[in-house]
Amino acid sequence: MIAPHGGTLINRIVEGKEREALLAKAPTLPKIELDGWALSDVEMIAIGGFSPLDGFMTKRDYEAVVKNRRLANGLVWSIPVTLPVTSAQAKALQDEVALTANGAIVAVLQVEDRYTPDKAVEVQQVFGTTDPSHPGVKRLEMIGDVYLGGRISVINRPKPTTFLPYRLDPADTRRIFAERCWKRVVAFQTRNPIHRAHEYIQKCALEICDGMLLHPIVGETKGDDLSAAVRMKSYEVLLASYYPKDRVLLAVNPASMRYAGPREAIFHALIRKNYGCTHFIVGRDHAGVGKFYGTYDAQRIFEEFLPEEIGITPLNFENTAYCTVCGSMVSSKTCPHPPGRHVSLSGTKVRELLLAGTPPPPEVSRPEVAAILIEAMRQPATK
Ligand code: ADX
Repeated sequence: MIAPHGGTLINRIVEGKEREALLAKAPTLPKIELDGWALSDVEMIAIGGFSPLDGFMTKRDYEAVVKNRRLANGLVWSIPVTLPVTSAQAKALQDEVALTANGAIVAVLQVEDRYTPDKAVEVQQVFGTTDPSHPGVKRLEMIGDVYLGGRISVINRPKPTTFLPYRLDPADTRRIFAERCWKRVVAFQTRNPIHRAHEYIQKCALEICDGMLLHPIVGETKGDDLSAAVRMKSYEVLLASYYPKDRVLLAVNPASMRYAGPREAIFHALIRKNYGCTHFIVGRDHAGVGKFYGTYDAQRIFEEFLPEEIGITPLNFENTAYCTVCGSMVSSKTCPHPPGRHVSLSGTKVRELLLAGTPPPPEVSRPEVAAILIEAMRQPATK
């Protein structure tokens, strides 16, 4: 089984006497209410999805990650994981803080550091832009100006209310892979309903791996992405009819989407390594948004590190589409025909069709998936 990033699978869900002591102390501590984003970070840290992080980054780690894509100890890490608060909140704090969600205590943070980040540097380095139309830049403008760093101890893990059969922690997926004797396990990251190109690259990867972890993000995504519930339905219908049950494990990834393109591809890969995967699919414009990144930037970034520093192996895929001449899904690596012979629709065009109740061509979207999306468009409130 592949080792977690940094060698140890972090578990910050405390139990027994330690939990009891913190449970007694937490109500007396100053409190910080977590938003959905921070709560999903707490969850990812606690279950080891972000191993080796055992808390929010201190200034040393944060600055090293922003500048060098490494933690202060040199380990590769490409995305800051920080807890922003207002300066007023930061001033009122002591050495320990209770972290709450909807007023209920979730965790205790040992405040090792509080620091004022240079957000302009952070957005330029992490997102490659300072343009506020980038969702990551926009978010950073809205969050507090001081970051708290330090280890967390989760004492009351919030009970999920959605996707219950698919809530698998890294320890669970690792156990399941071992039970199924999967040695080469490919992970697929997604934030969109599944389409034919997704299906094709997944199946190409499955040809050379023992199994696949289909691992859609269900943390925060930008407002115009389709809801996680709709996406999950699309995976369910597709898996039921077109994938062998014993080769695919569907589980949700509680992390939030950063839209950081290449840097996020590394982050996504390291997270999946923590879940026990050996391979990771990186297609075109992975974790991209708008025109902020080059089509294959997220593949090239892996070459800037030694393979053993990353540990999980990227499987790169060219832009794929259905070719009417070849009669199959193809990419420029496998098909000599011009783009005019490929069935490929922009996201905007697909959305227009769905809004009009028209299924996109089956070469783009399976009819079962199209039906779910059309239904979802009719009820935009569906979450
Ligand atoms: S992402 O933000 O999670 O990357 P999305 O869910 O659309 O967005 O993509 C999931 C994965 O499929 C990513 O690795 C992406 O690069 C890849 N991908 C999406 N569409 C295509 C395509 N037409 N050809 C090749 N790869 C693709």
